[in-house]
Amino acid sequence: MKGIYKCKINNYHRIGDDLYLLSLRLSGRVAVKPGQFFMLRVREGSEPLLGRPLSWFRYFPNRRILEFAFQVMGKGTEILSRRREGGDLSIIGPLGNGFETKGLRGRVLLVAGGMGMAGLWSLAEALGRNPNCAVELVWGVKSKSRFFLLKELSKRFKVHPATEDGSLGKAGLATELVKELIDQEGLPEHIFACGPKPMLKSLSKPALSKKIPGQVLYEERMACGVGACLGCAVPASGGGYLHACLDGPALRFDQIDWERVRC
Ligand SMILES: Cc1cc2nc3c(=O)[nH]c(=O)nc-3n(C[C@H](O)[C@H](O)[C@H](O)COP(=O)(O)OP(=O)(O)OC[C@H]3O[C@@H](n4cnc5c(N)ncnc54)[C@H](O)[C@@H]3O)c2cc1C
Ligand code: FES
Repeated sequence: MKGIYKCKINNYHRIGDDLYLLSLRLSGRVAVKPGQFFMLRVREGSEPLLGRPLSWFRYFPNRRILEFAFQVMGKGTEILSRRREGGDLSIIGPLGNGFETKGLRGRVLLVAGGMGMAGLWSLAEALGRNPNCAVELVWGVKSKSRFFLLKELSKRFKVHPATEDGSLGKAGLATELVKELIDQEGLPEHIFACGPKPMLKSLSKPALSKKIPGQVLYEERMACGVGACLGCAVPASGGGYLHACLDGPALRFDQIDWERVRC
């Protein structure tokens, strides 16, 4: 259930250039669904005033440990990267609607772009344990140093890495690799994706034209995370707007008017 959690920073690891794994010890248990997120107060006090949204990454209920993986992008994440073990940190969540996975069967394609893997990790692990699903993960990054914790991914599913500079896996974009996989192996039963908007927009074309059911984790800039500021508008198919923090961030491809999505 959604709440404000006062946590202790249990552990901090650098997992790549500007990439961090933050491990928090919660005071109680929390029920989380893949695709949901938390607003993190990066430090006490009024500066910065707004929390920063991060997808939960891994959860170990017996130890009450909740992890986040993040990239330093600006002021908030930079402050977060300088916090130290033993410090206090407040988080609000879990927020938003996570991925819908009820009744899922067959071949499932997960597509992550760069840090978008942080939002898909928990889903990949959960679906990997689902005996009804054959999961394949396409993870595209600019260069191999942008992959993180690759060796810690479950062996229960196949990983297809792609790098724009060809330093690991297939040379090219994740979307190009998806096209190749579809050409070689046929259409998947379902696609889940998280990553930069151009990647999601590009994926929406085959997903909608070939009628492949799919969901994206739509990461819009968020000030409140709880539906109060209306700042996280997502162009809705059929007109008007959805709000990423309340209606999403997990949304079906066909809920979004991709023509109006600005990249
Ligand atoms: C639902 C959701 C889940 C996310 N999960 C992750 C994650 O697991 N790992 C990760 O590295 N990043 C994630 N992001 C992106 C992350 O929230 C931004 O990188 C971060 O807020 C940037 O804050 P900043 O202060 O460092 O940068 P600044 O640019 O200084 O941020 C200024 C403001 O813009 C907002 N903002 C900036 N970029 C984004 C963005 N891409 N999305 C949303 N708000 C933004 C910030 O919240 C803040 O209010 C997620 C975003 C959303 C919406
Ligand atoms: S972030 Fe404020 S309404 Fe969504």
